[in-house]
Amino acid sequence: MTRRALVTGGAGFIGSHVADALLAHGFAVTIIDDLSSGRRENLPASATFHALDIRSPGAAAVVRDGAFDILCHCAAQIDVRRSVNDPVHDAAINVLGTLNLLEAVRAAAHRPRVIFSSTGGALYGDFVTPPNDEIFPKDPESPYGIAKLSAEYYLAYYARLHGVETTVLRYANVYGPRQDPHGEAGVVAIFCNRILDGRALTVFGDGEQTRDYVYVGDVAAANVAAALATLPPAGRLDDRACNIGTGVSTSVVTLAATLQAAAGTALPVEHAPARPGEQLRSVVRIEKAAAMLGWRPAMPLAAGLAETFRWFRDRRLAT
Ligand SMILES: NC(=O)c1ccc[n+]([C@@H]2O[C@H](COP(=O)([O-])OP(=O)(O)OC[C@H]3O[C@@H](n4cnc5c(N)ncnc54)[C@H](O)[C@@H]3O)[C@@H](O)[C@H]2O)c1
Repeated sequence: MTRRALVTGGAGFIGSHVADALLAHGFAVTIIDDLSSGRRENLPASATFHALDIRSPGAAAVVRDGAFDILCHCAAQIDVRRSVNDPVHDAAINVLGTLNLLEAVRAAAHRPRVIFSSTGGALYGDFVTPPNDEIFPKDPESPYGIAKLSAEYYLAYYARLHGVETTVLRYANVYGPRQDPHGEAGVVAIFCNRILDGRALTVFGDGEQTRDYVYVGDVAAANVAAALATLPPAGRLDDRACNIGTGVSTSVVTLAATLQAAAGTALPVEHAPARPGEQLRSVVRIEKAAAMLGWRPAMPLAAGLAETFRWFRDRRLAT
């Protein structure tokens, strides 16, 4: 029988790749998205689409009555700076929206396994020394990170108390085709657009701050792996959580150089004053994802950046 998957945020960057990957693995895919930042053109043609807010009774009804096997919950308010300026809006979507879906799962006759898109970049805070292990203490620096951590606690609770099947994927900095500049790896989109404009690339401070850049196709594959895996018993917060990154740190200066090599340009790199509060080092450990999900990243950074640049260039040529 065809397995059924629901993807929230499936018109967005990561969710649309997750939907594509599930379709490629033979799932029938339904998408919920309110199109607040997602785009209709990202929706796969063969997916069923509901233009709904995850906080709405309509979205809850789709979850409750849809007989889904898998629920990939990717919809979110993803802008860390916006969460700082408007934490109520962030929590309304990222905490209450998630709870609305979890309550609907609890009420469903056929309950899906919930795969939650969390963050490895904004969860652990600045006081731990990377590479970040799943069991590291959590002390998020932003309302966005606090909301993601809250949602994770709710997932662990629903697993414990109500026997809901859950998996948490804590993404590092995700880049790739369809990304926009506001996500946690927004610098890749910003640099691609700068290169296409023929303008200098700006880095803040000395540009030696590092991130763990993971390709969106690998993140989609992690969702499929989480859909198919036999999971360990659920109990506490970290039991069913895996970091999804590469385990490799890359500085902003190296990122700029690698992108320029892919684009065949040699534009100047300008330094602007360091941004106060910016995290200097962020990289995650990924051994647990290999052990729990049988997942490993496959895309090397240079090849993934080349793919991403090509997508930005082709989109520019098409408009
Ligand atoms: N991009 C990254 O580097 C990164 C890193 C860590 C975690 N994540 C998480 O991955 C998930 C996907 O992020 P993304 O980068 O693809 O962002 P995105 O903005 O492209 O996708 C989010 C989607 O959710 C939809 N959405 C927002 N609010 C909604 C609501 N109330 N109801 C229904 N739909 C709503 C948007 O329209 C959009 O299509 C998010 O949960 C995000 O927190 C992303």
